[in-house]
Amino acid sequence: MCGIVGYVGKRDVVDVIFKGLTNLEYRGYDSAGMALQDCGELRIYKTLGKLINLKNELEERKSELKHPTSGIGHIRWATHGSPSLVNAHPHTCSCGRLVVVHNGIIENYKELREQLIKKGCNFRSQTDTETIAHLVADEYAKAKDLETAVRNSIKQLQGAYAICVMHKDVPNLIVGARKHAPMLVGIGEDENFIASDTPAIIEYTKKTIYLEDNEIAVVTKDSVKITDINGNTVNKKIEMLPWEPVALSKLGYKHFMLKEINEQPDVIRNVLNGKLYDIDAPVNLSEVKIDKETLKKLNKIQIIACGTSLHAAIVGKYLIEDFAGISVEVEASSEYIYRKTTTDSSTLVIGVSQSGETADTITAIKQAKEKNSHILIITNRPDSNMARLADSLIPVNAGIEVSVAATKSYSAQLISFYLLAIHLAEIKDSMDKEYLKNIKHELIQLPTKIEEILSNTSSIQECARKFSSYKNFIYIARGVNLASAYEGALKLKEISYINATGYPAGELKHGPIAMLDETMPVLAILIPGGITYEKVLSNSEEAKARNAKLIALTSSTDKAIDTLFDNVIRIPHVSEVLSPAITCVPLQLLAYYIAEFLGKDVDQPRNLAKSVTVE
Ligand code: G6P
Repeated sequence: MCGIVGYVGKRDVVDVIFKGLTNLEYRGYDSAGMALQDCGELRIYKTLGKLINLKNELEERKSELKHPTSGIGHIRWATHGSPSLVNAHPHTCSCGRLVVVHNGIIENYKELREQLIKKGCNFRSQTDTETIAHLVADEYAKAKDLETAVRNSIKQLQGAYAICVMHKDVPNLIVGARKHAPMLVGIGEDENFIASDTPAIIEYTKKTIYLEDNEIAVVTKDSVKITDINGNTVNKKIEMLPWEPVALSKLGYKHFMLKEINEQPDVIRNVLNGKLYDIDAPVNLSEVKIDKETLKKLNKIQIIACGTSLHAAIVGKYLIEDFAGISVEVEASSEYIYRKTTTDSSTLVIGVSQSGETADTITAIKQAKEKNSHILIITNRPDSNMARLADSLIPVNAGIEVSVAATKSYSAQLISFYLLAIHLAEIKDSMDKEYLKNIKHELIQLPTKIEEILSNTSSIQECARKFSSYKNFIYIARGVNLASAYEGALKLKEISYINATGYPAGELKHGPIAMLDETMPVLAILIPGGITYEKVLSNSEEAKARNAKLIALTSSTDKAIDTLFDNVIRIPHVSEVLSPAITCVPLQLLAYYIAEFLGKDVDQPRNLAKSVTVE
């Protein structure tokens, strides 16, 4: 949801900000912009669409620049005002001497805007951000000090913001502030950075200060000062980033998404590493910081998440209830936060998030924290805001995921849930030991089976080619694979813009069956040997009787399947309970190849962002 980079220092300022924005492009790509302090001039560049357009613009106008020594940059995911040049950041005050970039939503911007218009401010855009530029300029006129002006301004702002402000009068000084939106300061030598997220700065420094809500950072080349809303100095801990600089390279793959799908076997090995290596030994999940006696008595868990993480949570519910007999509620974070929840100190609340920055999930977690629930966070970003709210933290170690559609992080979350469910079952002694041993054995075998799928994708590609012209799909499953149907359909929607719905197979006849005809393919997930196979098969027959084209995703070798279904995607067999960890892979590939055939922008689908920092 918008990315911000600020830099003061010795390096090529344009290059640092541009690379930083490139590494934050997952946060939005509606427009991009940069403001540079250049030998007494404040120069502003803005372009519509992807960052590459800003690069070209900067290249064309290179001769204007003398020697920029500081600057701020922005990539936008539009909230207020359509994606357009006039709405692109940075925004300026009426005289153009003050510039602002912003991530978040200012909820009281309309009333502030009216007040500022009455004072003579000249608004040009439809954004809430422009209000901040005029407001800070107004305060600057009174205070004659940028830090004070920002402090006095944020006292008047309602909503969420991470902002960077520069003024022509005070070159090489950037003031940053945040509330409910991420912002960090990177500490270098003769240089300092401000950014929305660590990938923007990791190439240059690992030393980081995470700003908290209502804190203000004043950053120059050789100093960083952090103060609170009242102007008191805050002594912040400098933390070392856990990441190594990563070359965000596709490694020969056409898209990051395909690369990330192919990384899944290793990601799974990584998640299992150190936690499950011997089927006779208990799972080692020392990350769960709740004593055994309390865990034994635990009778309620709530899991909150959004998007793909919510689908991993649904699988988690199934596993924990099945293995450990603990009742689990799963809810979308955006719903959890708008009603009275029944959380209390005896409830374990699990937040699941790839980015650790999703605003709705952070708010939901804070709400649960207030009720004294133990907070367990499962995230791919142990350095995130959400991770810092955790009482227990399970990092999923999927590595940086670049493609907006989540793939490998989903697999890593699923495996984390398998480990958690087994861990709980072992503590509670709630499951047959031999059964758990078999599950552990299958988990260890899983990467090899996924490699088998990845080594021959021809049936998936053929299916994608055949079905890429269809406008509507229904994905059906029962039991633990229902989440796979939801997730497979979500992948297709996200990257191909085709209408796809995941639905409980048994519910088909209670409504959706009315839509079925030869124009709406039905994809059924059928895992033999489990409790749902025969039933999903019958539901598929019902769809066939309404002329729907049928696709099977199955490990069954039954020839009858080939007769009933128009296309069959075969996968190696695993037990039903473990199958979501394998069915997700062909479904990701099917969505990928359909989007590819349709020529869609697979890694950066329209209207989406990877990290959603607004509610
Ligand atoms: C966005 C992304 C999705 C992701 C969801 C939740 O919508 O586009 O891919 O699943 O946010 O994100 P999180 O980082 O909390 O898992």
